[in-house]
Amino acid sequence: MTYETILTETRGKVGLITLNRPKALNALNSRVLAELVAAVTDFGSNADIGAMVVTGSEKAFAAGADIKEMQALSYADAYTQDFFVGWEDFTRTRKPIIAAVAGYALGGGCELAMMCDFIIAADNAKFGQPEITLGVMPGMGGSQRLTRFVGKSKAMDMCLTGRMMDAQEAERSGLVSRVVPASDLVEEAVKAAAKIAEFSLPSVMMTKEAVNRAYETTLGEGLRFERRLFHSLFAFEDQKEGMAAFAEKRKPNFTNR
Ligand code: CAA
Repeated sequence: MTYETILTETRGKVGLITLNRPKALNALNSRVLAELVAAVTDFGSNADIGAMVVTGSEKAFAAGADIKEMQALSYADAYTQDFFVGWEDFTRTRKPIIAAVAGYALGGGCELAMMCDFIIAADNAKFGQPEITLGVMPGMGGSQRLTRFVGKSKAMDMCLTGRMMDAQEAERSGLVSRVVPASDLVEEAVKAAAKIAEFSLPSVMMTKEAVNRAYETTLGEGLRFERRLFHSLFAFEDQKEGMAAFAEKRKPNFTNR
């Protein structure tokens, strides 16, 4: 697939995807969705890639779903097409994806960042769910994911007033894992992804699966799920290698077997 709205590159074992619709502040239209899904699927099936980073520009990660594309949509169109359902494909990838967010992450932009596994924010990042100002509401998961990240009170505040949260507030609230200077954002995110990509891929994928399960199940079920995955890692050569390397005071040589 030839990409028109994103750029992709590999940096060592990291797949880097950059949203690239600068004139529309990276607004997410159906082309961006198709290209993002294709890129993560491609990196997901590439054995040389261990983790991914999705980023935008210094001014905007993404200023939302494309309002101009949605403007004329009828209820019949929205319902029959199950508008936005395609974003579920983005969340299916089993390798970790870090969102590296600078500038605006609004509406669908904030929701895309939350679909990633964690968010590293630049000090100029601004997060918001301003759909209420357009006469609608979040439609790509904002009312659900934001509530799980920051709790009911702040999620209600964000979704009902449409106000933006700066990077410091986002870190305080648990929406982002860390804040870095805007000039270092991509480098820091790639460094974090490269660290993850050094580890044994099965343990990385199972860790992602287990943490995500915490959002969907009870504590008891989640603990049982975690233990089963933990036990299953003893079937991999990488468990023997990782523990032998520790005992022998050397770096492990993981083979993903
Ligand atoms: N969709 C389509 N185009 C957008 C866009 C969006 N979400 N956000 C910005 N643009 C376009 C603008 O229309 C403008 O294009 P033109 O030059 O052709 O007029 C260009 O990007 C630059 O934008 P501005 O001139 O507005 O830039 P600014 O610096 O003055 O303001 C901003 C920046 C505050 C982010 C402002 O652009 C803005 O408020 N954007 C809309 C934010 C928004 O409401 N997002 C939610 C969208 S709905 C949604 O996402 C639903 C959902 O749940 C998935």
